[in-house]
Amino acid sequence: MNTVKTVNELRAAIAQARAQGKTIGFVPTMGNLHAGHIALVERAAQNADFVVASIFVNPLQFGPSEDLDKYPRTLRDDQQKLVDAGCHLLFHPGVEDMYPHGMDSQTRVSVSGVTEGLCGASRPGHFEGVATVVSKLLNMVQPDIAVFGQKDYQQLAVIRMLVRDLNMQVEIIGAPTVRAADGLALSSRNGFLSDQQRAAAPALYRSLQQIAEALKAGENNFAALIQTAQQAQLDAGFRPDYLEIREAYSLRPATAEDRHLVILLAAFAGTTRLIDNLVVER
Ligand code: PAF
Repeated sequence: MNTVKTVNELRAAIAQARAQGKTIGFVPTMGNLHAGHIALVERAAQNADFVVASIFVNPLQFGPSEDLDKYPRTLRDDQQKLVDAGCHLLFHPGVEDMYPHGMDSQTRVSVSGVTEGLCGASRPGHFEGVATVVSKLLNMVQPDIAVFGQKDYQQLAVIRMLVRDLNMQVEIIGAPTVRAADGLALSSRNGFLSDQQRAAAPALYRSLQQIAEALKAGENNFAALIQTAQQAQLDAGFRPDYLEIREAYSLRPATAEDRHLVILLAAFAGTTRLIDNLVVER
């Protein structure tokens, strides 16, 4: 697996693969790779001949008080994991390669609708930063398919929307969330949890499962379900940020008539913010 830093090197390596008739699969990441990312790379390898991954901790999607500086950078380990997962090319640009004219003058991509509420409300500017960097990366790599985790459910909806609205010729594949044996969704941020917080963290997934069971059994008092689940999170030592039931495709607030639902949550353990979601068909 080659690691390249500049856009010119990236394009040259991809042009070579294209010249050999290969299809291109792409997995953008911010590094600190875990089994969830590896599943994305493996999925890309199943769907394309030549797999490109990127590692770029994108400053544009972090708020001023967020964890940009302490976001873990583990390039050597990540490279080994990517090789083992069947990745062919790693793009690892610096901020100067991604934003050569500065971040202030960077053209931004702003997606409306699905960015409203949830993480869009808690993290102002976050999805503009994500949509901008993903648009740039998709234009640089020009893959046939790109794979994103369903764990970042709202992000996946944002990316599907920008690809649709900007007429990008790429198929977006959403890959299922990978969980630890006790149910906690894998995340780079799990590494920030203390032992005590880590032991309590499965309570988040349990609260999603409890709501899902009730919804499947026909419960339509969403407010009561949410209140009970948030109390359970508080009892487990978490500070709920949001917990909502939405229509799974449009992400608008769910109604009793909706059949495709998604329950989404964000909660803090100390300063660490975790997110998770569960889709419910009924
Ligand atoms: O999900 C992530 O790791 C990031 O938001 C992404 C899609 C790589 C954009 O920086």
